[in-house]
Amino acid sequence: MTYQVMPKVELHTHLEGCAPPSFIRGLAKEKSVDISGVFNADGSYSYRDFDHFLTVYEAACTTLQGPQDFYRLVKAVLEESASHGVVYQETFLSPDFCGGGDVEAWRDYLAAMETAAAEAEAEFDITLKGIVTAIRHFGPDAAKPAALCAAETFGDFITGFGMAGGELAGRPGDFAYAFDMAREARMPLTCHAGEWGGPDMVADTLRDLKVQRIGHGINAVRDPALVDQLAEAGTVLEVCPGSNVFLKASGGWDQHPIKTLRDAGVKVTVSTDDPPFFGTTMTHEFNMLSQTFGWEEADFKDLNQTALNAAFCDAETHTKIAKRLEA
Ligand code: ADE
Ligand code: ZN
Repeated sequence: MTYQVMPKVELHTHLEGCAPPSFIRGLAKEKSVDISGVFNADGSYSYRDFDHFLTVYEAACTTLQGPQDFYRLVKAVLEESASHGVVYQETFLSPDFCGGGDVEAWRDYLAAMETAAAEAEAEFDITLKGIVTAIRHFGPDAAKPAALCAAETFGDFITGFGMAGGELAGRPGDFAYAFDMAREARMPLTCHAGEWGGPDMVADTLRDLKVQRIGHGINAVRDPALVDQLAEAGTVLEVCPGSNVFLKASGGWDQHPIKTLRDAGVKVTVSTDDPPFFGTTMTHEFNMLSQTFGWEEADFKDLNQTALNAAFCDAETHTKIAKRLEA
C-alpha cells in the first residue's frame, strides 16, 4: 500500500526548503550565482548537520533574487506537493529572504507568490496559505520587521506568524515583542521549539509567546507533566518525523516520539519540513509511519482532520478542504 493518492493536509513546510535542487541550480546558472558547496556530486543538497544545513539553506536562497523567482518557486513546489496528494499546505515565508524586512518590498514578493498560488490552485488543485516567519538566529531585532510585515499583510493568504531557524539562539521571551505585535493584529501563532531544545524550550515558548501550535515539539516527550499539559491545552504539534530522523533530532523511525505523544492524547500532525533536503515527501512520511507503527488509513484520516482543525485558514477554505478529505 502506498499513500501517494490519499488527500493530505500539511501544516509545516518552509518555502525555500521545498525548492527542488534542479530549480536552485537553474536559477544559479541563469544569474551566475556561485553556489559551490550547496550540492553533492549526485546533485542532492550537501550539509553535515543542522547548523550547516541552515548555512547551506541560506546559500541556496541567494539564487532567489526577486518576486518573479518566488513566483516560479511557488509554482514548482505546489506541483510537487500536489503530486503527493497534498490538497492544503501551509508554508513559512520569510521577509528576510524577500526584501530584507521592508514592508513595501515584502508586498511585491507577496503579490507574486499569491498569483502563483492562485494559478497552482487552478492547475494542480492544491490550496496554499503563508505563515510569515522570523528567523531566530537573525536575532530579536530582525524579528520585529518580520512581525510588522506579517501584521501589515495578514488576510486571505497570509494567515499566521511564526519563527524558525536556530532554536538554541536566545530564549523564547527574547522574541516576545514580535509575537505580541502579531497577536495584537489577531494573527494565529506557531513557533519551532523542542526540535533541538528540551521540554523547557517548549514550555517557555507556550508561556512567553502564547502560540497555538509548536513546530516539531518532539522533545516535550521527555517531560510527562508537559505532555499532559499539551494534551489538556489542545496544543497542536507540527511533527516532521522524516526531517527529525534525517537531521538526527531523533534516533530513528522506530524511536520517533510521535506515537508516544499521540497515544498520550497530544494533537499531532505530520509534515515534511524541507522535503528535498531530507529526502522525503508526504507519501514517504505516511508510508514510513505505516511501516513503523502499523498506522492505517483511519489513523491518517484522523491526522489529516487534526491538521485541518489546526489550519490557520478561513472558514470557507476549511469547508472546501473538509469536503476534499471526505471524497
Ligand atoms: N528552517 C528550515 N528548516 C528548519 C528546521 N527544520 N528547523 C528550524 N528552522 C528551519
Ligand atoms: Zn521547520
